[in-house]
Amino acid sequence: MASHERLSIRRSIVGQSEHASQCRLQIMSCQAGNLRARLENMFITFTNTKGGVGKSTLSCHLAIWLFDRGYRVALLDTDPQGSSSEWMRNAEPGITVRVTSDSDAIQTARNELMAAHDFVIADAPGAEGGAANAVTMLADLAVLPLEPTALCVRALKDALKTIRLSQTVREGKPETVLVLNKVNKRSRRTATLKKQLRTSGFRVAESELRWLDAIAESCDSAVTRETAPKYAGGAMDMEALFVELMAGRLSDRIAANE
Ligand SMILES: Nc1ncnc2c1ncn2[C@@H]1O[C@H](COP(=O)(O)OP(=O)(O)O)[C@@H](O)[C@H]1O
Ligand SMILES: [Mg+2]
Repeated sequence: MASHERLSIRRSIVGQSEHASQCRLQIMSCQAGNLRARLENMFITFTNTKGGVGKSTLSCHLAIWLFDRGYRVALLDTDPQGSSSEWMRNAEPGITVRVTSDSDAIQTARNELMAAHDFVIADAPGAEGGAANAVTMLADLAVLPLEPTALCVRALKDALKTIRLSQTVREGKPETVLVLNKVNKRSRRTATLKKQLRTSGFRVAESELRWLDAIAESCDSAVTRETAPKYAGGAMDMEALFVELMAGRLSDRIAANE
């Protein structure tokens, strides 16, 4: 395709279950040969002091999704459990991986990685502490995955404390988005919960991730890279979420990393 040629992708995703929301995405992008063009690089943190909500899963998926669009991507794993760094080493050697849970080292790693990458994705540990605070205080964008349960919503209070503090001292930064993960579409609870979450004053993503075996089994790869039909639903949910999260942040769509 010629470098000047415009590429339009219009995709409609229509949920099929009783309470499924209709999601229509319109992606207008410009394919400009091998030019790598972004307005500025970005530090994105996946955080929630609660464990098991999908921080590592989403960090790895977003990193791979951006890499597959031709961006220079690094993953900063700050969880001593090391799930996302191990995942990424098996999944994509083209993505730089750094591991540290020391707050000073996190700041140094952030500066070094930002100098050489378009996106640095940080995976926070599932507990309060220096590492979780550091990656939140350094973030341009903080994404908080949470499960649609009363317990998880209650635990959100703790996760939002550092974000509120950071926003106070850093003039509104990080921009923050709450993302519902492991959603059972047949439940009305999700819509009610979303309304409730919006009263917190934080942005809640329209897109949500369903609880899908394919996502649970995607360890060491990404559902967006799979071609087997069983991964299609997971890939659709991830793609919709990432397009929403990254809207306006990807200036030019480029040839994929090779
Ligand atoms: N949408 C989903 N559907 C099914 N399983 C999921 C989904 N998101 C995450 N999981 C699974 O939930 C578990 C916890 O996810 P993980 O990303 O490790 O959470 P965290 O990093 O917040 O502790 C993992 O086994 C993962 O495969
Ligand atoms: Mg994790």
